[in-house]
Amino acid sequence: MKTAECCEIIVNADLAAGTIDKNIYGHFAEHLGRCIYEGIWVGKDSEIPNTRGIRKDVVEALRALEIPVLRWPGGCFADEYHWKDGIGPAEQRPAMVNTHWGGVVENNHFGTHEFLDLCEMIGAEPYICGNVGSGTVQEMQQWVEYITCEGGRMADLRSENGRTEPWILKYFGVGNENWGCGGRMRPEYYADLYRRYQTYIHNFGDNKIFKIACGPSGDDYRWTEVMMREAGKMMHEAGKMMHGLALHGLALHYYTGGQRDFATGFSENQWFTTMKKTLFMEELIQKHCAVMDRYDPSGRVALIVDEWGTWHEVEPGTNPRFLYQQNTMRDALVAGINLNIFNSYCKRVKMANIAQTVNVLQAMVLTDGAKMLLTPSYHVFEMYRAHHGATLLDLHLKRCPEYENRGEVIPQVSVSASMDNKGAVNISLCNLHPVRTVPVTCELRGMKPGRVEGGILAAAEIDAHNTFDEPTRVRPADFGAASLSGGNLETELPPACVAVLRVV
Ligand code: AHR
Repeated sequence: MKTAECCEIIVNADLAAGTIDKNIYGHFAEHLGRCIYEGIWVGKDSEIPNTRGIRKDVVEALRALEIPVLRWPGGCFADEYHWKDGIGPAEQRPAMVNTHWGGVVENNHFGTHEFLDLCEMIGAEPYICGNVGSGTVQEMQQWVEYITCEGGRMADLRSENGRTEPWILKYFGVGNENWGCGGRMRPEYYADLYRRYQTYIHNFGDNKIFKIACGPSGDDYRWTEVMMREAGKMMHEAGKMMHGLALHGLALHYYTGGQRDFATGFSENQWFTTMKKTLFMEELIQKHCAVMDRYDPSGRVALIVDEWGTWHEVEPGTNPRFLYQQNTMRDALVAGINLNIFNSYCKRVKMANIAQTVNVLQAMVLTDGAKMLLTPSYHVFEMYRAHHGATLLDLHLKRCPEYENRGEVIPQVSVSASMDNKGAVNISLCNLHPVRTVPVTCELRGMKPGRVEGGILAAAEIDAHNTFDEPTRVRPADFGAASLSGGNLETELPPACVAVLRVV
């Protein structure tokens, strides 16, 4: 019998390679399908247990994930959302047609106050995306003023609506996908609009806004080039003062999808293609960073992976514009690999938001009436909490077996290592192969390892998932199959798994 080829890793525990911004573990929730309405907002009179209209079970699940930042209200929805329709007494708010997402009529009962309430409940920083496509400069300017300013007309309006104190709002996006649903603009035109709109996004009192511009779609490197040339350099003109900076983040959108397969019942070929497309994220980040480096060598403008995740065919029988999909071990792998990649580029990647939190695309949580389940992707985020705000460690993949499919090869293992503030080393590992185990040795240099423990997410089938009848079929288990010998960590990863090992 052929012995399985070993994966050999070196981790330099005494060599810091950057700080992993916890915002890399951010999320995105849009007015799309059943994400906000049903998934998060059920209304105060609902029989589903809620706090001021927001479901308690979902809040509890999201709070446990320690979500650092939550992006809202879109997505494509953002560029036709007029925030004033979503404030004031609920029964007086005008209904609107969500033209992008199925033409459904929304009652606007979930608006600015409710979103900021949700963020407070789950402990996340709010990230609001403004309307450039169909909204005015004044509208955007007043939204920021309404949320963050102590006095004046907008503050009076806010007080009338029940909130006297301003909120803290750190992250603001100037439009969404303005190359597409956000206005079909050319980068030259958007860059000018960005310069104009951002001028009126003011910092009131101590509130300092981190301004995020619409960035490229996938491999559109020209978009990044034009934005950095036309808007990025304003930073240098403005000097070093934080409040003088005009462009703090550029938002890349890239989904793992396009092969028109279903979330469950896929073939090994489709599994392989998904893994390969996921790994492409690294090339995207490298190439966009190379462009950014030319205009901003000191790395002051962050690359924000504003929307990412799997995009499968919708579940049969559901509204095609609601983007509701199941979530399997394949999605768990996509999450683990992407997060490992984001960690390793943490010098430039300061935030990433998976799409979308509840009932849409690669969701953390699925709901059906009063029922709720946690997806395999949820569990990856849960296990990877160990990396939040940690120090990225220098890591060398000395030898990595290949996963071959139809003449194409990809690495079988994805890995990232960090040290937390207690000195523990956390190593996240993904085995991309659907049927092959992989022995792993990890040489831990620069530390004296005493003990190892860990958790693993694995299942017998590659499309294993949780259902409302069997909601805990896929869940993390203790991983005892790791040992220390001398300065080396040794383990064997089962096929198609995500594991996080903690060495102290
Ligand atoms: O996440 C779904 C959609 O994907 C968003 O609305 C849009 O920004 C992107 O195209």
